[in-house]
Amino acid sequence: MRELFEDRHGVESALILKEYALTPAYYSTDVLHREAELKEIAEAVKPLLYGRQPENLFIHGDSGTGKTTCAKYVSRKLEEQSGNVKPVYINCWQSLTRMSAYSKIALAIETMLPRRGWAIDEGLDRITEAMEKENVRVLMVLDELDGLFFQHQEWLLYDLTRINSEKPLFCVIAISKDKNLLANKDIRIKSSVRLKDLEFKHYNAAQIADILEERAKISLRDGSYNRNVLDACAARAFARESNARLGFEFLWRAAKIAERGNRSKITLEDVKASAERTLYDEKAPKRVEDLGFEFMNASLTDEERLILSILKNGEKTSSQLYAAFCKKMTRSSRSIRNYLSRLEIKQLVRIETVPDNGSGFSTRKIRLNIGVGNET
Ligand SMILES: Nc1ncnc2c1ncn2[C@@H]1O[C@H](COP(=O)(O)OP(=O)(O)OP(=O)(O)O)[C@@H](O)[C@H]1O
Ligand SMILES: [Mg+2]
Repeated sequence: MRELFEDRHGVESALILKEYALTPAYYSTDVLHREAELKEIAEAVKPLLYGRQPENLFIHGDSGTGKTTCAKYVSRKLEEQSGNVKPVYINCWQSLTRMSAYSKIALAIETMLPRRGWAIDEGLDRITEAMEKENVRVLMVLDELDGLFFQHQEWLLYDLTRINSEKPLFCVIAISKDKNLLANKDIRIKSSVRLKDLEFKHYNAAQIADILEERAKISLRDGSYNRNVLDACAARAFARESNARLGFEFLWRAAKIAERGNRSKITLEDVKASAERTLYDEKAPKRVEDLGFEFMNASLTDEERLILSILKNGEKTSSQLYAAFCKKMTRSSRSIRNYLSRLEIKQLVRIETVPDNGSGFSTRKIRLNIGVGNET
């Protein structure tokens, strides 16, 4: 069936110029509608430039509200401003050890750690010495901070803020979706890192449309979309906990639908159809082509991806899930439970414990955590 792949859009698209700019991996250089938040982050980290004490921040807010975007933006600007401040970005769900964190810092400040056999404290001492000697400071972004606690690596927060140096060497920006993440955590850590709270509120629909417009200019051909199309995508994202990332997904899918129909303009009908084909829709079809943008964003292991793909077709009890999992990968039930807990903390699945028909036992029911909103 050669004709299956033969269409005129294989190489050059009539509509999409730069598809990458509509994916979750893309971080634009411009940040819209977050002036106050950017200013607050900048004010907090600015003292690092002058060897004074910065304020450490805890940024929290729902998914797709621009937390990572803003932290990366300020990091970039700070680096441009002074060669003496180096940003280090860590996603705490990626496997994180003392060694790996110190290696990242060492790389950023261009100092060498011994290849092997170094003691942990020795690593930090080397880094501190090099920073003092070269007059270098580090802005540490700890994104998805939940992963740090889940992997019992919270020492990192403690260590970085208790380094014995006359001048402050580190500023920490910690980020999480969960505003209560630190509520019941060890007071020794909280009192040494002293994080200041910064909430990222939801965008309104017009703000999401502006953000989409900036991206559409880069990614789509002139004249292939209009503001009504962007407004329609934005309204659908707004209805789903105001997640800007979903706006990009709706726009991207709408563009694909128009492209497949050999049309050079995206219509409101395409947007409507695009929203019907995502996991976020109330009436999600039984078979979806792939996991949506929201699921592509988080740093997921192969095991977590497998669990999500099993749940794509609907809710499962834990035993159904384990059975389906073990057909594809061999893992102990304990480690599968562990992956499930990670997904629950990342707010990608919901787990509900329900009593089982008078048997005295309870069953766990697991399903994708899909932001469902009212259709507009
Ligand atoms: N103010 C903005 N200006 C430009 N693009 C933005 C803005 N806010 C969000 N975006 C875009 O929306 C998407 C989601 O933003 P981002 O990843 O920063 O959200 P987040 O709050 O970190 O979400 P999560 O909690 O899921 O990690 C990204 O593609 C980002 O480029
Ligand atoms: Mg983020």
